[in-house]
Amino acid sequence: MKLNSANINIMVKACRKASKVLIRDFGEIENLQVSVKGPGDFVTVSDKKVEKILIDELQKARPNYSILSEEIGKISNDETYKWIIDPIDGTSNFLHGVPHFCISVGLEQNGEIICGIIYDPIKDEMFVAEKGNGSYLNNQRIRVSSRSKLKDCIIFTGGPKKEAKDREKSLKEYLDFSSKVQIPIRKLGSAALDMAYVAAGRCDGFWHRHLNYWDIAAGIILVKESGGLVTDYYGENKYLENKTLLVTNSKINKEMIEVLK
Ligand code: IPD
Ligand code: CA
Ligand code: CA
Repeated sequence: MKLNSANINIMVKACRKASKVLIRDFGEIENLQVSVKGPGDFVTVSDKKVEKILIDELQKARPNYSILSEEIGKISNDETYKWIIDPIDGTSNFLHGVPHFCISVGLEQNGEIICGIIYDPIKDEMFVAEKGNGSYLNNQRIRVSSRSKLKDCIIFTGGPKKEAKDREKSLKEYLDFSSKVQIPIRKLGSAALDMAYVAAGRCDGFWHRHLNYWDIAAGIILVKESGGLVTDYYGENKYLENKTLLVTNSKINKEMIEVLK
């Protein structure tokens, strides 16, 4: 791998360690599907265990950095650097024994994401990116696709979230999109992996409402460093404020914006 900054090494090590628990628990979950109580509580415990390993490892190596992590929330420290953690992205898949989920960790410096890792432990696929140094999948450089017409593309989306107040909007958006362009649209259930797949050219674009920072932090740098675009539905970079995320290769951003209007 061409990426060997100290921070990348720390992230890789933390992910590898946490993924051992994740893989073991996933095996257990497959057995729990048939139990009456189901795997719900077990998954919550798993999520917290994975988060704890990640945080312990990252803090051991970088005691001064701040942290924002989905389950535990904020750990304030030196605000220059901040780890943004989603211990399991794709929890519903995990819960139902569907082998498509990941660990996602981004590193922010002065408000900008400079490193990211998205690790799918079941497929053993590690997506890593660092500002200025490109994006990689298991040590191989990755790039976004070069398809320039939406009609030739495959697009990912997700949601809507149960609790979202404008849930109807998401549902309508999906229907409108699929009636305007007759192309394959997929919902694979992990926003972080969706972004990693755009970075790797496996999919040409991805749109999603209501995502949180931990869902997308690592994905942002992966997509940018592989030549893709990360915007909101209007082509601006206010995806966090607007809660609308649009991720594309370098060519279909405008066409996607038109269709999402
Ligand atoms: C979820 C996944 C899913 C997306 C949801 C997210 P979680 O994250 O990324 O693909 O549609 O909006 O909340 O709950 O599995 O960490
Ligand atoms: Ca999560
Ligand atoms: Ca998530």
